[in-house]
Amino acid sequence: MNHSVFSLSPSPSVFVIVLLLFVQVPSSLSSSSLFTDCSNQFVCGDISTGFPFWGSGRPSACGIPELELKCENNITKMNINQVAYRVLEIKPDIEILRVAREDYLAGLCPPQFANSTFNPKVFDPVLGYTNLTFIYGCAAGSIVGIPLPGLFTCKINDTNYGQNGYIQGGAAGPGECYSSVFVPVPFTNSPLNWNVTSLEELLKEGFEVRWKVDSAACEECNRSSGVCGINNVTNQTTCYCPDQSSGSKTCALPGSTPIADQADPSLTGMCLNFSSNRLMNSSPSTA
Ligand SMILES: *[C@@H]1O[C@H](CO)[C@@H](O)[C@H](O)[C@H]1NC(C)=O
Ligand SMILES: *[C@@H]1O[C@H](CO)[C@@H](O)[C@H](O)[C@H]1NC(C)=O
Ligand SMILES: *[C@@H]1O[C@H](CO)[C@@H](O)[C@H](O)[C@H]1NC(C)=O
Ligand SMILES: *[C@@H]1O[C@H](CO)[C@@H](O)[C@H](O)[C@H]1NC(C)=O
Ligand SMILES: *[C@@H]1O[C@H](CO)[C@@H](O)[C@H](O)[C@H]1NC(C)=O
Ligand SMILES: *[C@@H]1O[C@H](CO)[C@@H](O)[C@H](O)[C@H]1NC(C)=O
Ligand SMILES: *[C@@H]1O[C@H](CO)[C@@H](O)[C@H](O)[C@H]1NC(C)=O
Ligand SMILES: *[C@@H]1O[C@H](CO)[C@@H](O)[C@H](O)[C@H]1NC(C)=O
Ligand SMILES: *[C@@H]1O[C@H](CO)[C@@H](O)[C@H](O)[C@H]1NC(C)=O
Repeated sequence: MNHSVFSLSPSPSVFVIVLLLFVQVPSSLSSSSLFTDCSNQFVCGDISTGFPFWGSGRPSACGIPELELKCENNITKMNINQVAYRVLEIKPDIEILRVAREDYLAGLCPPQFANSTFNPKVFDPVLGYTNLTFIYGCAAGSIVGIPLPGLFTCKINDTNYGQNGYIQGGAAGPGECYSSVFVPVPFTNSPLNWNVTSLEELLKEGFEVRWKVDSAACEECNRSSGVCGINNVTNQTTCYCPDQSSGSKTCALPGSTPIADQADPSLTGMCLNFSSNRLMNSSPSTA
């Protein structure tokens, strides 16, 4: 009877355990694990990034639907509008992504027949790049007058077409030929003077696009020790907080109230001590 669970006079430590259980239960549910999950960085090779990207250890609620990253043998990959890209660089401070088409890393032939297009709701073009079109499966007669460096040959399975190809500035269609692919390349004044070898090198270096995101809201969230994510119903930027709340633009700091819009009062009302966390970040190193 002395240490019975049914004791009528619980010791303070039992009270603490009961309190801890109460506090731990919500942490196994929705937004508490999203705070933890979305605090993980995506790390692959020498790429390391967080919001607005997701993938690997970061669930889809951690980023924009179109910005899913995959890691294959330390190489970061992503699909944009059904085209496979290798991610070469991510610059979060200026919201720029440098990608190269996977197909063109192996040469001009044969590509994934799809243009490099970008959803304008998610991406903005970056200055200094221009489209170049690769036209495939042309009969010899249809390419007279094309300057020689812009010519290449590439076997096309469809035998109704020839095997000649050529390069044209801008985003063009295939005309009489089998198919065409346009892709952004760094802008120069005379792209048609490039030979095929130097063009292949250029494609390997990739091109940049800028992603669009409400970065001001995200900085506020980050400053309040939250992590940014995306509400999968509204598709808006949201803030996941260490106290397991979400739906507000920022997290509650001890002694202040969050900028509440749809905060769940049953969650934000809970009082938890996170000052140890913040002390660690702000205290000078004693080492
Ligand atoms: C990926 O990189 C890490 C660290 O550089 C290395 O330990 C690991 O073996 C690499 N994995 C592959 C599949 O290349
Ligand atoms: C490439 O062409 C497409 C379609 O015309 C256009 O939306 C896009 O902005 C162009 N990209 C560049 C870098 O000029
Ligand atoms: C072309 O034919 C080859 C061999 O027959 C096949 O492996 C390849 O998938 C075909 N490519 C296309 C685009 O149909
Ligand atoms: C690429 O875009 C051009 C112009 O919009 C179009 O004519 C062509 O069919 C497209 N290529 C593919 C493979 O869809
Ligand atoms: C292709 O052009 C580059 C410079 O633009 C030059 O260094 C290289 O020798 C050329 N290659 C061929 C095969 O003409
Ligand atoms: C969020 O803040 C931390 C420091 O508290 C910083 O290391 C991190 O880069 C910030 N993340 C973003 C997306 O700004
Ligand atoms: C939104 O996310 C929740 C969990 O975070 C999930 O249960 C739900 O199915 C998702 N809804 C949609 C439309 O993806
Ligand atoms: C949110 O994004 C998804 C995927 O892009 C889309 O299917 C859905 O219609 C969007 N919802 C809203 C409310 O915009
Ligand atoms: C919160 O935790 C810190 C360090 O763990 C402690 O110094 C502080 O007194 C605690 N605050 C409250 C209100 O319990």
